[in-house]
Amino acid sequence: MQSYQDLRQIFLNYLNAQTFVHPPQNLYEPFEYIMQLGGKRIRPVLCLMGNQLFEPNEKDALNAALAVEIFHNFSLVHDDFMDEAPLRRNHPTVHTKYGVNSTILSGDIMFAKSYEYLSKIAPNYLPTVLSLFTKTAIEVCEGQQMDMDFEIQNDVGIDAYLKMIELKTSVLLATSLKIGAILGNASDTDAQHLYQFGKNIGIAFQLQDDYLDTYGNKDNFGKKVGGDIAQNKKTFLMLTALEKAEGDVLKELNQLVNSKPKDDQEKIQRVTSI
Ligand code: IPE
Ligand code: IPE
Ligand code: MG
Ligand code: MG
Ligand code: MG
Repeated sequence: MQSYQDLRQIFLNYLNAQTFVHPPQNLYEPFEYIMQLGGKRIRPVLCLMGNQLFEPNEKDALNAALAVEIFHNFSLVHDDFMDEAPLRRNHPTVHTKYGVNSTILSGDIMFAKSYEYLSKIAPNYLPTVLSLFTKTAIEVCEGQQMDMDFEIQNDVGIDAYLKMIELKTSVLLATSLKIGAILGNASDTDAQHLYQFGKNIGIAFQLQDDYLDTYGNKDNFGKKVGGDIAQNKKTFLMLTALEKAEGDVLKELNQLVNSKPKDDQEKIQRVTSI
């Protein structure tokens, strides 16, 4: 098995060989912008790793890896608008740079392009892989809706939170590994075990992302620190704070978590200290 760095480089070489720029410019430029902004590329690497565990089939695995990464970036473009996020990978988010209409439509083109790359894989794998990918895309939307609904819900339990992050984040990591395995002719049992493994690391990954959203270093994190607090996100941190707080502190926390001031720095500071 090649290292993370090597697989990431193989993926980047394939990504850089593609041309996403095409008229009309306002549709394709945001697509190119977000794809070239960097990122850990963890999902495509997981896809290539899942593949290398069995019978490596680089051509199909790279197309699937690119499909997954385009889908991920599409979800970020829409997520940043929904979360009113100013920064992504230390650069302005797509909606801040290009406006709302370009954000919606370039997201749409990215969703379609992810299917275009996925359908390049050999026909014998296509029915299984397409159905898994589609199921995952549906689940991500469900998770994202739960995340939004929870912003204005004050009785979210830990189980509901875990279900939400499983859907919005972890199933895509799980599917990336599993698609790689399927394209390597893994047995159903092995592919399913990898899916479960990916789901568990995906849950850990989102917990860590939530932690970094409050306690991360802006330069490494690349996103606005405190963004989740500003948006009243029901993260594990927030749910635990709501559970443990008492008396006046609980009253204040409840007030803060039901507010959305224009200048949110004081709110972020206060909630962080609680
Ligand atoms: C961000 O994903 C969205 C989450 C699921 C937390 P990543 O943290 O993988 O973002 P990039 O692609 O590396 O920038
Ligand atoms: C994003 O979760 C999950 C998806 C994009 C589907 P977050 O909203 O926590 O991701 P970041 O922190 O903006 O990257
Ligand atoms: Mg977000
Ligand atoms: Mg979000
Ligand atoms: Mg986050």
